[in-house]
Amino acid sequence: MFSTGFSTYLCLFFACCFCCSRAMPTKLNHEAVNDRPVIGILTQIVTDDVMKPFGKTYIPASYVKYIESGGSRVIPIRLTLTTAEYENIFKKINGLVFIGGAADLETSEFARVARIFYQLALTANDAGDFFPIWGTCMGMQLLTVLVAGENLLTNTTAENIAMPLNLTTEADSSRMFKGFPHRLMKALTQEPLTGNFHNYGVTVKTFQDNDKLKSFFSLLSTNIAENGAHFVSTIEGKTYPFYGVQWHPEVNRFQWDKNLNFPHSPHAVELSSLLAEFFVKEGRRSLHQFDNPEEEASSLIYSYTPIYAGNFTGYEQLYFF
Ligand SMILES: *[C@@H]1O[C@H](CO)[C@@H](O)[C@H](O)[C@H]1NC(C)=O
Ligand SMILES: *[C@@H]1O[C@H](CO)[C@@H](O)[C@H](O)[C@H]1NC(C)=O
Ligand SMILES: *[C@@H]1O[C@H](CO)[C@@H](O)[C@H](O)[C@H]1NC(C)=O
Repeated sequence: MFSTGFSTYLCLFFACCFCCSRAMPTKLNHEAVNDRPVIGILTQIVTDDVMKPFGKTYIPASYVKYIESGGSRVIPIRLTLTTAEYENIFKKINGLVFIGGAADLETSEFARVARIFYQLALTANDAGDFFPIWGTCMGMQLLTVLVAGENLLTNTTAENIAMPLNLTTEADSSRMFKGFPHRLMKALTQEPLTGNFHNYGVTVKTFQDNDKLKSFFSLLSTNIAENGAHFVSTIEGKTYPFYGVQWHPEVNRFQWDKNLNFPHSPHAVELSSLLAEFFVKEGRRSLHQFDNPEEEASSLIYSYTPIYAGNFTGYEQLYFF
């Protein structure tokens, strides 16, 4: 009953600002800290017939809870605004999440809006204005399209299956996994902690053959699809705070459909928690803010009420916009 479009979700990380024991030369690094972060989630286009009566765009509540669990508030970002309006929103938020779903990654409104924010984030980070982006499932696929400037996706179907990660040698020195206890890193490679719900992805070969992807991202993990293809499952920007997972960390704590292989073991829950905390920690490094408390309050997702959707989708609750 749930659509196959149920393919994406999001995540979190944690910044290594003070935990790197690198000696700071002459001047102290007064890294900015914003303890009241607000992270934007780009709404997703409704494609599933059973969801159409409720609205044109949506966000599964699991992504919202995931971000909130890391210590952030969430604003939903609609797909119908002008470029100027997105530029204005960008100045107020401390990070952005591209969630899963089903949309054309080059021609849809979702792709149009994502491209605007991606360009803003590149420019901001280049100018020292730290701004993190997280992509889950289709959101990660979208990041690869934005970075490569072309759609490199092929069939890497892994639909409704939980798997361990095949970590690369770069995983240990990554920012995403840096705060993970050793036992969890080990569990990650041995236990099925990552839920996969996708048909497309970037193969390891495509990634390694593409200069843009290879120079932009570190490859942190791979997996094998149902058709035998080796696909990219976790990436992080080498210099930009952009992160992507082909799998769904939010389901581990916030989705419960028994027909879907959502990992709920203690390690699976810990993985989801640590990634959420990681991403929000990244968001705390952004000093963007709303013009005033009233504007902030009226922008937050708290004005919206999710509906119960557990009886007609694979999600427990959905926000519609
Ligand atoms: C893990 O990745 C390595 C290359 O990094 C590859 O040779 C190996 O076949 C992969 N194994 C699995 C189980 O995915
Ligand atoms: C992808 O490949 C699998 C396994 O070979 C096949 O069953 C599936 O129909 C293909 N999916 C798409 C979207 O082409
Ligand atoms: C799902 O449950 C809600 C609330 O209990 C109910 O109003 C709705 O009709 C149900 N939808 C379907 C498709 O069964």
